[in-house]
Amino acid sequence: MNKLITSIILLSSTYLMGQNPLMIPETITGTEVNLTLQYGTHQFFDGDATNTMGANGDILAPTLILNQGDLVNFNVDNQLDNTTTIHWHGLHVAPENDGGPHTTIPAGTTWSPSFTIMDKAATYWYHPHLHSFTNEHVSKGIAGMIIVKDDEEAALNLPRDYGVDDFPLILQTKDFSSDNQIIVMSNSDDVPMVNATIDPVLEVPAQVVRYRLLNGSSQRAFNIGLSNGQSFYQIASDGGLLENPFETTRLLLAPAERAEILIDLSGMEGQTIFIQSFASELDNGIYGSSSPGMMSFMTLDGYNPNPLNGSDFDLLQLDIVVQNDNPVTTIPTNLVTLAEWDESMSDITRSLTFSASQMGPNQLNGTFQINNTSFNMDIVNITVPFNNTEIWQITNQSAISHPFHIHDIQFRILTRNNVAPPINERGRKDVVFVRPGETVKFIGKFEHFSNNDVPYMYHCHLLTHEDDGMMGQFIVQEPVGIYENELSEALTVYPNPNNGTIYIDIDLENIDVTNINIYDAVGRKVLMENYTLFDKKIELSNLSSGTYLLEIISNDQRTTKQIIIQ
Ligand code: C2O
Ligand code: CU
Ligand code: CU
Repeated sequence: MNKLITSIILLSSTYLMGQNPLMIPETITGTEVNLTLQYGTHQFFDGDATNTMGANGDILAPTLILNQGDLVNFNVDNQLDNTTTIHWHGLHVAPENDGGPHTTIPAGTTWSPSFTIMDKAATYWYHPHLHSFTNEHVSKGIAGMIIVKDDEEAALNLPRDYGVDDFPLILQTKDFSSDNQIIVMSNSDDVPMVNATIDPVLEVPAQVVRYRLLNGSSQRAFNIGLSNGQSFYQIASDGGLLENPFETTRLLLAPAERAEILIDLSGMEGQTIFIQSFASELDNGIYGSSSPGMMSFMTLDGYNPNPLNGSDFDLLQLDIVVQNDNPVTTIPTNLVTLAEWDESMSDITRSLTFSASQMGPNQLNGTFQINNTSFNMDIVNITVPFNNTEIWQITNQSAISHPFHIHDIQFRILTRNNVAPPINERGRKDVVFVRPGETVKFIGKFEHFSNNDVPYMYHCHLLTHEDDGMMGQFIVQEPVGIYENELSEALTVYPNPNNGTIYIDIDLENIDVTNINIYDAVGRKVLMENYTLFDKKIELSNLSSGTYLLEIISNDQRTTKQIIIQ
């Protein structure tokens, strides 16, 4: 291992000597989130500082800690010289709040979405999503973690003290020029870092410790393991807790994937271990292995030589210190119960195929397409009827693995090549790594949000591929309800006018109400409730007095009612 680190030092530049304490991003909690996108500089190496981009700082972005059910107001102030966007990766929000390529924030302006957090406790993230510039804005530094909390998670005996026994780990690799500047659109990323810290070290207590892993790299997959061979426990995938902790010694993490893991360090005070990427074990056809194409004659410009490709390297040194006062010392056996999904629940199966635009040994350098087309801002590729449950069947006919990501939903993987996925891939996901030749099927429901004007994205999360157009867009079509219908007759809202508390009664059996929205006088959505979270009593005391529009949506109907807050 030390030999490897030495060779990296020789190849890239002069490191700051020795290990560096892991940077832990600051947090923003509560219901007001103010972010300023800005330029900065960061001292990655001795000598020239690196020009960077960040939110509320020189590099990366604060960790947002949000509670399920809270209505959160965001202000994203773009102090950069260029347009960008901010996308809440993994969160289930309306298309106009999603921060995709259509929802631009021009330089010098502020974007102020507000939405209710509907997601389950898990680790999400946020990053720019401007078409063709996502890689530049992310590689130069803008990326932050989002931790969602909910009651289900709070009831478990898990470490959850941020920076004490619960740590964010944003894993990235970057390429630097000889004057220490970040090279964007490079296949020569030879510098690993965690939370923008090169050669990081973290003191951790000798107990069960939780790590929230985010692969924030532009292209590289990591094969996570521990230097002492000890097993660890995956407790959450992209969008939520697993049913039971999954014990393993290796965890493949593709770009944009998240995993929460527990490592039991009880009795290990005084020892040092490393979280590593065992890239020597990665299969061909994965960016990060010795051969990014399925066949080793397929080359990728700039990929070799690179000491990280196909060899094992350190990500984070853990120095194990004395136990805390209230340590978690056991791994729980059960976590949550997940909804059951099966193929029979779907309304439709859609097929998507990945292919290379050129074949042969040079295909890895070309562009990649989905269903033989490249992204076009003006073309909606897929129209999903509101409330549809769909199976998406993804076939990769190219020679490299692609992490496929879809906005709006958390899905569940049904099969990989017709076989149920490994246990740790059976939970809520928004990214799935699809290998060359593989067909993956997942299922999900497109509920709560529809908008005929603003599409959601689906794309490869290798940022070079995404920026080159390996992306498509879909709209969730607004329900075509009869407006004066049984739903409106069955609805009672009281008291009205009211003092900020309303009760809603829907006197109708067998009706599948999915959401409740409230709009202010200018049509801005000020409240959105997931009906399953909704307890028929709504607190509106944070709204000023005035007239509002209440909207109730079911699977095939929609009705509205004016309400007056005094
Ligand atoms: Cu992480 Cu479309 O994004
Ligand atoms: Cu996303
Ligand atoms: Cu790709």
